Amino acid sequence: MATGKPEHTCVVGLAWGDEGKGKIVDLLGERFDVVVRYNGGANAGHTIIVGNEKYAVHLLPTGLLRPNIAGVIGPGVVVDPVELLEEIDALANRGIDVAARLRISDRAHVVMPYHKIMDSLSEAAESGKRKIGTTARGIGPCYSDKMLRSTAVRMADLTELQRHRDRIKEIVALRKRAFAAMYGDDGNLSFDAVWESLQKAAKQLLPMISDTSSWLRHQIDEGKSLFFEGANGMLLDVDHGTYPYVTSSNTGPQGVAAGAGVPEGLVKRFVGVTKSYTTRVGSGPFPSELSDAIGDSIRDKGHEYGTTTGRPRRCGWLDAVAIRASVRLGGVSELAVTHLDTLSGFNHVGICVGYELDGNVQTESLPAGASAIERVKPVIEMLPGWTGELGQAKCIDDLPANAIAFVRRLEELVGAPVTIIGVGAEREQTITCNRLN
Ligand code: GDP
Ligand code: IMO
Ligand code: MG
Repeated sequence: MATGKPEHTCVVGLAWGDEGKGKIVDLLGERFDVVVRYNGGANAGHTIIVGNEKYAVHLLPTGLLRPNIAGVIGPGVVVDPVELLEEIDALANRGIDVAARLRISDRAHVVMPYHKIMDSLSEAAESGKRKIGTTARGIGPCYSDKMLRSTAVRMADLTELQRHRDRIKEIVALRKRAFAAMYGDDGNLSFDAVWESLQKAAKQLLPMISDTSSWLRHQIDEGKSLFFEGANGMLLDVDHGTYPYVTSSNTGPQGVAAGAGVPEGLVKRFVGVTKSYTTRVGSGPFPSELSDAIGDSIRDKGHEYGTTTGRPRRCGWLDAVAIRASVRLGGVSELAVTHLDTLSGFNHVGICVGYELDGNVQTESLPAGASAIERVKPVIEMLPGWTGELGQAKCIDDLPANAIAFVRRLEELVGAPVTIIGVGAEREQTITCNRLN
């Protein structure tokens, strides 16, 4: 690995999440001083495999798995304190102490128990296509309260919890009544239980809560290298994704400045991650989806089951139209392509190179409406496949010629160089390259 301080860098998912960001963050994170989460919450699920150890990280910055790196949960994140403490404890039990290295923004919002209840009740109340298929982690309801303001609870409030007791009691009563009226079920919400768990969590989290934006500015002044970890994926972005089948935050480069609390333009290097095929979990349009034996085979070979919810992921050919749109929207400078090994063994592999909608072919962007995206007929280009186990490949030349041709075609279609290739789930099963030619 090269020496010297790397420039501030951000890793983002280019599709509908689960692109393998965790593994790429873990790989690149080693050289940075601080890792920062700027969006989402415990809806994220990143799997990292190091030797015989497998870790699943949800709320914590993945980079914290490396020792000596400081971690920040920024103001744009929604924090479930109970989940967070469980995650911290689980890592501590495995010999990884993150509590002493973690700072949580006092501006970050708290996911309250009623947010999770509401997430489940509102999803259960919708029928068919109207269900978003959320992770039930209370993400949407918490961000809704953030925008509503009067009913929001922030990490800063946990530092002076007694002052917020009456307000929280009122909010709980209000939600109980609203749930009963809207869903015929008050969610078994009890203020005493909410208060008790909040008090316990606040006590433990207190030393970690601070003004992280100010601290980060000092780190920048001291010449430290910052590493930003995008959660979810750019097609799940609340403004630019496949709305309404999205999450409730700005997941891509656009989210960094506000969500981390750093100056706009600080980050110049954005690494966009995509699998060599596409997956989606939850509802929503997916033009290149394969609802057939090939899709099932990709799911089996790639172990495509959610890290957070265990749900089977929907699988399809790599959607280069959507990836290109994300790259252009985010100013993404390079690509990391994971799971090249998973595509090994198919006679032919497909790439979606165009969207045909109402007789016109589109290659650059997605229609705004979910129903329009649903009507899209994907234009699939088939490339010759490759065989063999790629997990031992250490450099590009170790890869089969057709696998290299696939990666080159992706570069061409997307307009960005591939600098990292994943050939297996383990940390070492990664090829890093400056450019693929
Ligand atoms: P994230 O949410 O983007 O961090 O991705 P997830 O961790 O939810 O899902 C990616 C899955 O793919 C995990 O199970 C990883 O261990 C696995 N993975 C990542 N990169 C590779 C790769 O190059 N090859 C294979 N076979 N598995 C990979
Ligand atoms: P990582 O970081 C995959 C999806 C959910 C659902 C929609 C809204 O592991 O890539 P939410 O609970 O956020 O309100 O759900 O967004 N979703 C993800 N899908 N990976 C994720 O995170 C996701 N985070 C949210 O499945 O369709
Ligand atoms: Mg994931």
